[in-house]
Amino acid sequence: MPEAPWWKTAVVYQIYPRSFADSTADGVGDLEGIRQHLDHLEWLGVDAIWLSPFFTSPMADFGYDVADYCDVDPIFGTLADFDRLLADAHARGIRVLIDWVPNHSSDRHPWFVESRSSRDNPKRDWYIWRDGTPDQTPNNWSAAFGGKVWTWDEATSQWYLHLFLPEQPDLNWRNPEVVAAMHDTLRFWLDRGVDGFRMDVIHGIVKRADLADLPVDKHHAPDRFDEPAVHANLREIRALIDGYPGDRTSVGEVYILSTAKVAEYYGQGDELHMAFNFPPLYAPWDAAKWRTRIDRVVEELDPRDAWPTWVLSNHDNPRHRTRYGGSEARARAAAVLLLTLRGTPFLYAGEELGLEDAVIPKEREVDPAGRDICRAPIPWTAAADHGWGVEDPWLPWPPEPDVRNADVLRADEASILHLYRRILAARKGSPALQLGAWSPLPAPPTVLAYSRVLGDDRRIVLVNFGDAPVAVSVDVETVVEVASDGLGEGEGYAGTVAADSAVILR
Ligand code: GLC
Repeated sequence: MPEAPWWKTAVVYQIYPRSFADSTADGVGDLEGIRQHLDHLEWLGVDAIWLSPFFTSPMADFGYDVADYCDVDPIFGTLADFDRLLADAHARGIRVLIDWVPNHSSDRHPWFVESRSSRDNPKRDWYIWRDGTPDQTPNNWSAAFGGKVWTWDEATSQWYLHLFLPEQPDLNWRNPEVVAAMHDTLRFWLDRGVDGFRMDVIHGIVKRADLADLPVDKHHAPDRFDEPAVHANLREIRALIDGYPGDRTSVGEVYILSTAKVAEYYGQGDELHMAFNFPPLYAPWDAAKWRTRIDRVVEELDPRDAWPTWVLSNHDNPRHRTRYGGSEARARAAAVLLLTLRGTPFLYAGEELGLEDAVIPKEREVDPAGRDICRAPIPWTAAADHGWGVEDPWLPWPPEPDVRNADVLRADEASILHLYRRILAARKGSPALQLGAWSPLPAPPTVLAYSRVLGDDRRIVLVNFGDAPVAVSVDVETVVEVASDGLGEGEGYAGTVAADSAVILR
């Protein structure tokens, strides 16, 4: 196996702390709950976890509105709980990435409280303030979750900018004091021993200087941010992180829907270590559409030696099983796909249980952007409280919690949970699956076929997106290493891939 930093061979597992596991029976997950469930993650075989924000927050955006970058919100526990979680995870060989939210703070962050207190406060320029009149916003930009990016501040008669909620004012990264303060927040957690960061809305941290109107205003259009200054900042951040021992890493949320643009955020190997690439997440269950998105990655990232990432689900989007029509067969096949492409895969807690989106009654909706459906609590057991100590946590359970929970699925070797575990084990045992070259192979239209090769180690992967079985011949002798329907594992490949299923051949 060639030398590679750990994050290139890792499978990362995203945890949304509110929804993962509850140690206090208050209906909201917490850090100690995560620690108590590290067994599940170790058994599953993931290499790292990414924790969505657990910092002090008024929770207007459930933690993505940070009021203290260097402390834990009491609902999630304490810094001591974090240290224990980190130590226990490390003792099991599991790395820990935390979520860094540099684009905006909470409006309750002491920095913003000061900034908004008067026009001549020394922190006024830490945020983005503009003159105007209460009836005319400084530009036409709209905010991610509705409304404009501007909120009028009565007391000081100016507008402040927020790409997201009014409770999430954007920090002014053109002010060197802000840069220095935010660098300190990175150091705080690096000194504590975290293995890296998922970086929220990283492409947006510097807005275009003229804040000009946009001809067509789209929140994710790159013409409002994606500035050269973002890249300059990323180079400094990269140098800061690489200054620490132990291969710390970063994965940026670059919410620009073009793989070519995403590629730019790797710089010349001197910006992000990894960037999320969302076009595949938005691809439907269709071989040709997936092929196009994979080709884009190969074309745009490989020439830069930029290491790809793959993700199907997260806390912002409907779960992929639901997007793919609710079919468990597709969810299983998708797991094989996600975990055998070239790059670092990111799992979202609950996908290993084959969870579908929850149905949230109107009166239980809490997220301003309609994302509650994918944030339902993880059912651990078949009991009425599903291991949470309360029967009715902060959001309703996902569908079928009586059977679709970690306990029941772990007792069933044919379950999707065991399938994930088998695929992760297959990756661990195969340098080709972890680091090998990816090459497409000819196949019928509903099938995506590719090889992964490193030296003598070779795998062929066949994914059938169609609703009929397809004969696919491979002109070498192979053994079925993992099949998404479990059939024929360990036997010679019989020449057919079932509908909505996938196989890894050795
Ligand atoms: C990112 C997060 C999302 C959050 C937003 C604002 O897109 O993934 O959950 O609401 O940033 O911080």
